[in-house]
Amino acid sequence: MTKIISVINQKGGVGKTTTVINLAASLSIMGQYNLVIDLDPQGNATTGFGKNNNDEVNNIYNLLIKKISLRDSIQKTNIENLDIIGSHVNLSGLEVETASDSKRAFTLKEILFDDKNSTLQKYDNIFIDCPPSLSLLTIMSLVASDELLVPLQTEFFALEGITQLVKTIDRIKENLNPSLSIRGILLTMFDKRNKLSSEVDREARNYFKDKVYQTVIQRNVRLSEAPSHGLPCVIYDKNCAGSKSYLNFAEEFLKKNNIESAA
Ligand SMILES: Nc1ncnc2c1ncn2[C@@H]1O[C@H](COP(=O)(O)OP(=O)(O)OP(=O)(O)O)[C@@H](O)[C@H]1O
Ligand SMILES: [Mg+2]
Repeated sequence: MTKIISVINQKGGVGKTTTVINLAASLSIMGQYNLVIDLDPQGNATTGFGKNNNDEVNNIYNLLIKKISLRDSIQKTNIENLDIIGSHVNLSGLEVETASDSKRAFTLKEILFDDKNSTLQKYDNIFIDCPPSLSLLTIMSLVASDELLVPLQTEFFALEGITQLVKTIDRIKENLNPSLSIRGILLTMFDKRNKLSSEVDREARNYFKDKVYQTVIQRNVRLSEAPSHGLPCVIYDKNCAGSKSYLNFAEEFLKKNNIESAA
């Protein structure tokens, strides 16, 4: 069964895109099939996989306005078992352009579920990289998803805004997507020399209990260098601390899910 997972936090720069890229790549290395949908007009996940976020034809915007088919929107990356629907800056205009369409929050869901040719069947996971806002694009993603993965930066103010996110998720569950659930919360950019990192770690676990993954992603400069080479860090330098964090996380991500499914 294909799982659709939004990687979401309306706070900017918390590690959403880095998580999408490196989790999807780690899972593909482990043999799973993954599709990444770059739903952020910034297109960082697209360029992070070495793809062009200026492709005028094959992009998520054209898919959402139904100019191209789902099949045509999907591109291969250089990584085996890993495909992407790339972003385009046009996406930033979608909210205004579709203002008169009262059903627009369902557009992505309809496209993914109305998959007559079973294009998506082969994927184990579809990861959606959300923009840093709670605007139409994020709502579309929440409506289309089975589960959410929330990266939380271990810094001051990290937990602020989470209340707002939880409220939004609850509202979507009530009105638009009852089966939506939080798969887990991932602590990112952890710096063991910084006392604050451990404080946020403790607070998050107090509040969200076992929804918080045991694995924390270390702050590591290699993770920020890899995108400029168009490669996931877990491929660019698989032995650095950042890659080890993500490879460990990918294992926990699968294991925790299997335990929960069996229970
Ligand atoms: N663990 C880490 N260690 C060091 N740098 C990191 C780490 N995770 C992410 N970064 C860097 O921090 C910046 C923000 O990360 P990223 O783009 O993944 O966040 P984001 O939540 O997707 O941002 P946005 O909200 O703008 O989409 C990037 O430059 C990225 O390379
Ligand atoms: Mg991003």
